[in-house]
Amino acid sequence: MEKIEHKVTLTKFKSITELNKPDQDLVNLAIEATQNAYAVYSGFHVGAALLLSNNQIITGTNQENIAYPSGLCAERVAAFSAKSNFPKEKILTIAIAAKSEKAKVVDAVAPCGSCRQALIEYELLDKQDIRIILTNDDDEVYIVNSVKDLLPFFFNSKAVKGS
Ligand code: THU
Repeated sequence: MEKIEHKVTLTKFKSITELNKPDQDLVNLAIEATQNAYAVYSGFHVGAALLLSNNQIITGTNQENIAYPSGLCAERVAAFSAKSNFPKEKILTIAIAAKSEKAKVVDAVAPCGSCRQALIEYELLDKQDIRIILTNDDDEVYIVNSVKDLLPFFFNSKAVKGS
């Protein structure tokens, strides 16, 4: 028997102002993007801002649908848009923010499991860890250095490719 442990380190900042300027800018763009969310069913407006290796910044917002599962989270909207328009560029950082019509967002908004899996695909493809910056309404910030930290033992079976 063997125990396999996975250690995760999050860095917490008490305020956005503790971040370096590029990270602050990215967070502010994610916050700004929440205004463009189409969140008529949940009232939960999510914005994501991605920094690419060519310094381009791509934003995305959650897009909901009357057929609920047909909607998509802000993180995947941003990542798929980035990889559609700049397929060769690596994703370096993603900042995520949310505003709710119903309550204060006290928990830093972390990407859902499907978004983590989608982002890990690009980490592996580009051999580039993606930093994730999480924020809440209290101006607090959490940073993780890799999507793998948020989804240990993710799905990546070589059997799918047949090797
Ligand atoms: N949502 C995101 O866009 N990103 C997340 O990380 C979590 C949830 C969206 C999906 C849905 O439109 C709304 O937030 C409520 O779940």
